[in-house]
Amino acid sequence: MLSYPRIIAHRCGGALAPENTLAGLEIAAALGCAGIEFDVMLSADAVPVVIHDETLERTTNGHGRVAELSLRELQKLDAGRNHHKAYAGEPIPGLEAIMARAAQHKLWTNIEIKPAAGHDKETGKTVAQALAEWSGPGIVSSFSGAALRAARTTAPTLPLALLYEHLPPHWRDDYDELGALAIHLAARHVSSATAQALGKVAWACYTVNDHIEADRLFALGCTAIFTDRPDLW
Ligand code: G3P
Ligand code: CA
Repeated sequence: MLSYPRIIAHRCGGALAPENTLAGLEIAAALGCAGIEFDVMLSADAVPVVIHDETLERTTNGHGRVAELSLRELQKLDAGRNHHKAYAGEPIPGLEAIMARAAQHKLWTNIEIKPAAGHDKETGKTVAQALAEWSGPGIVSSFSGAALRAARTTAPTLPLALLYEHLPPHWRDDYDELGALAIHLAARHVSSATAQALGKVAWACYTVNDHIEADRLFALGCTAIFTDRPDLW
């Protein structure tokens, strides 16, 4: 049985702390936020690490592509200072570390598989293998159909959600074929027609950073929102 918290800290609450870090997770937990979302990509040696961009410059003091550095090299980088000097030294977490910390805080978890270009299947498979013993609560999502299909093949019971910007005409076929449990959508593209099309299917929206938009979506039947500002709720 799938259940979502209403408010989920997007990228662990990326407006309050460096995104996709344990520091962000700790702040979300301290605020009483019941769920977190984060992004997972593979290092050059195929270890799942928690980072959003394919390149390192925006969020870390590194340079180049995540997929070209080993775990050891990535772990030497500072993923905190670009957000604020108070977070200097905050590392890029591995999937294992963030899952362990989430479990300590009993956080609901949305693991977004974020493959670097050309690594869709490998990333889906590796993340699903890493989650083989995981029993939630939470869900695994991706914009990449290939990554989700690889995850499904690897772990037939893994709870999966399709992630789109707009709800595409073929969503129902994707949903049935994958055995998905929910749909995640960009809030700005969700209208009453979208909600009507989804019917009883669970759906969640990113990225919602104000009450007016949250209220609009919940009134349409939205199950949950992803927010960079869990402190607002
Ligand atoms: O998983 C929802 C949302 O995080 C997708 O967009 O770019 O923030 O990963 P992005
Ligand atoms: Ca994400």
